[in-house]
Amino acid sequence: LNISIVGVPMDLGQNRRGVDMGPSAIRYAGAIERLKALGHTVNDKGDIVIGRKEISKNTKLRNLEEVVEGNTKLANEVKEILAEGDYPLVLGGDHSIAIGTIAGLADKYKNLGVIWYDAHADLNTEETSPSGNIHGMPLAVSLGLGHTDLVKIRSYTPKLKPENVVIIGARSVDPGERELIKEKGIKVFSMHEIDKLGMTKVMEQTIEYFQKREVDGVHLSLDLDGIDPIYTPGVGTPVPGGITYRESHLAMEMLYSSNLITSAEFVEVNPILDEKNKTADVAVALMGSLFGESLL
Ligand code: ARG
Ligand code: MN
Ligand code: MN
Ligand code: MN
Repeated sequence: LNISIVGVPMDLGQNRRGVDMGPSAIRYAGAIERLKALGHTVNDKGDIVIGRKEISKNTKLRNLEEVVEGNTKLANEVKEILAEGDYPLVLGGDHSIAIGTIAGLADKYKNLGVIWYDAHADLNTEETSPSGNIHGMPLAVSLGLGHTDLVKIRSYTPKLKPENVVIIGARSVDPGERELIKEKGIKVFSMHEIDKLGMTKVMEQTIEYFQKREVDGVHLSLDLDGIDPIYTPGVGTPVPGGITYRESHLAMEMLYSSNLITSAEFVEVNPILDEKNKTADVAVALMGSLFGESLL
């Protein structure tokens, strides 16, 4: 593959500083070397500049303006990467950046599938959010739900159909998000299903689901808090009882074999909260599996 990497040092979608250093931590953990060793061509486009004014604490949508601005830049960058025929690999940054990634992708992929690998559903809106943090809203925004300034990025909405989304690893879902999942019929493999079926079946069913939906691309949005905090402690909103390291490798290897994934992002790596860059190390190890390591 020709992989184009873009870093997004965004920490304004939530209130714990340090996740803006995620892209550096992931590069330091050897992402580029790892992908090159697999025979891929890697073009690191560097980081997007995230403007910051005063960090606002008291609005219902924290740092809305900066998040909109950063995501607009990211959407344009992703669009450019696709125009060059490259595979976009986005490094976060908090999960609010999925708004921009998906906005850039949806321009090309009119029936885009998305795997949301996460402890959370990130399906809140201004009305349902318990925190005001936009990193808890990107999936809703991509479905066309939420503040107009967020949904109208790149001037069209929605970017995504609810029936083209599969959430994997959910274990902390707010009441409003639950309702939305039911209302829209979004497919969720929560920790309950992962425990019950095992990761093999979960991934087989996920892959089959997208094949039946006849998607024209599948984006993997991987929030490192989907994995158990034993393995990935460097995240802002850890939730115990998560997906294991081995299950995650298996999931990535099965996705690689499926040939379905056309773009990916790794988000919420916060080196300030981490133990010796352990979380970025896991992100890079999983990238290895996603991009073909196990079959060599
Ligand atoms: N559901 C909570 C909220 O809306 C937590 C969201 C966490 N999201 C994340 N991308 N880590 O604030
Ligand atoms: Mn999460
Ligand atoms: Mn998330
Ligand atoms: Mn592996």
